[in-house]
Amino acid sequence: MRAIDENTITDAALEQMSGTPNPRLKQIMASLVRHLHDFTREVDLTAEEWLEGIRFLTAVGQKCTAHRQEFILLSDTLGLSALINALHDKRATEAATKSSLLGPFYRQDAPMMKLGDSIISHSKGTEVVFYGRVVDAAGRGIPNALVQVWEPDETGNYDLQKHDPSIMDLRGCFRADSEGKYYFRGLCPLGYMIPMDGPVGDMIRAQKRHGYRPAHIHFVIGAPGYRELVTALYVAGDDHIDSDTVFGVNESLIISVNKNDSSSPLPKLPSIRYDFQLAKAAKQDTSGRVGADPSQITAKA
Ligand code: BEZ
Ligand code: FE
Repeated sequence: MRAIDENTITDAALEQMSGTPNPRLKQIMASLVRHLHDFTREVDLTAEEWLEGIRFLTAVGQKCTAHRQEFILLSDTLGLSALINALHDKRATEAATKSSLLGPFYRQDAPMMKLGDSIISHSKGTEVVFYGRVVDAAGRGIPNALVQVWEPDETGNYDLQKHDPSIMDLRGCFRADSEGKYYFRGLCPLGYMIPMDGPVGDMIRAQKRHGYRPAHIHFVIGAPGYRELVTALYVAGDDHIDSDTVFGVNESLIISVNKNDSSSPLPKLPSIRYDFQLAKAAKQDTSGRVGADPSQITAKA
């Protein structure tokens, strides 16, 4: 029997797991144990500190409901979701628009609308037209691409946070036309604070972080044979554009509102124009959805 001390414990744990039949599970768990043990040695973690960590993780789990996923929020605020998105983008075999966070407020069941329709049903605010094309790596339009969008209202809340979840507002699905063109009306995007009434909010306050996301609108765009794109567009000039609490902003996703756009399909409205580029699906492709409809996650649990 070998003596277990602060160094030999790592190999002892790895040895017990060495018979894991699934090679990917074996690789992930072995690396996790190595990094966890290194971290613990590096900070010389005490029993009280680890108990505090366990209390925190327990509270994160207890805050989850059918419509709230505090673990996604934790992953987002630690930069883990943004890192997973960056690795996902790196695996693309063709040029494509950068991914950005799905966040906890996506829903699979948003209503199908016609090009030009408004996603605003229960909110007020400045209306803008969003338009552009969905194109492939060579810039050719992708006909009938499915464009799903959602955004918060003028108070910084998504429909899921406000009322009976059966009432939908500020979300919709559109089919691009035969040239890959899309357009719809929505609210001029606004910024908001992430949900701060749970353990993740306590962590953010303990770290003296502001908790804001810059003004943005979310998109999930897909077409058969292409990698699904999960992304968001961010409004230039927002006070928090360089300090997003969940690290979703990329220079290439920053847009401006044009108040005088003669090439807009609805030139009387302010406009936001953006062309989304999808890469061809590769054999090994996995989903780029970091986070998902919370009710889908809890339903499966
Ligand atoms: C969002 O943009 O909807 C979001 C993303 C991460 C955490 C909270 C909200
Ligand atoms: Fe958002």
